[in-house]
Amino acid sequence: MRLDRFLIHNANISSQECLALIKAARVHVSGRLAESVAQLLEEGDTVSLDGQPLQSKAFSYFVINKPAGVVSARADKTHSTVLDFIKAGNFVGELPEFEAVNIGKLQIVGRLDIDTTGLLLLTDDGEWNYRLTAPEHHCVKTYRVQLNSELADGLVEKFAKGFLLPGEQSITLPAKLKQVAPKEVLLSISEGRYHQIKRMFKASKNRVVGLHRESIADLDLIKDLSPGQFRFLSAEEVAKLG
Ligand code: URA
Repeated sequence: MRLDRFLIHNANISSQECLALIKAARVHVSGRLAESVAQLLEEGDTVSLDGQPLQSKAFSYFVINKPAGVVSARADKTHSTVLDFIKAGNFVGELPEFEAVNIGKLQIVGRLDIDTTGLLLLTDDGEWNYRLTAPEHHCVKTYRVQLNSELADGLVEKFAKGFLLPGEQSITLPAKLKQVAPKEVLLSISEGRYHQIKRMFKASKNRVVGLHRESIADLDLIKDLSPGQFRFLSAEEVAKLG
């Protein structure tokens, strides 16, 4: 792990503060003056700040069943945010060491639009977040989509092949479309372009009237959560996802 990542998480500081502390020679790694923010920690290394050893804290991983009308952001002037549900303790199941969770450091893993419902992940582990959302990771997300008009012929093949969305330079990655009712489909995509699903159907002369994320990497993590409820992910789920 990089030294800055360790310090940000365990000393609860920003990346700027981290840089300043290292420059001011206030950080030591296993007794030696820290070299840079990018210094890699080896197994068994100890890190101290102003001579005080820092304990290594566990990261937190949550899943929430996002209700409609709630924004995927840390703060918002007009709407409630997914973090409000976590602050309110709206959880189910086991919450190991909830007091130790640093809510101020939680990041949202791949946003959903305000009117989209369903599976949303949160974590304070920046590397895990990056791995899950990086385009090269191709993490598959499956959505249940309600459409304004019946599914047109040829769309399964069009989405599977990929096509150019208006204003974009590259075609969409192969997407799997499965019709479950005349105006309802399951769509699996492995990228996360801006308003991607709404734009894919708009470009195909249809309109999304309901969007719900059901699963991620084939894991249906919210089957026991009602809208607005969240839970900790198990270590096994965390490992499978990222
Ligand atoms: N695609 C969209 O258009 N909106 C979402 O919230 C997620 C995927």
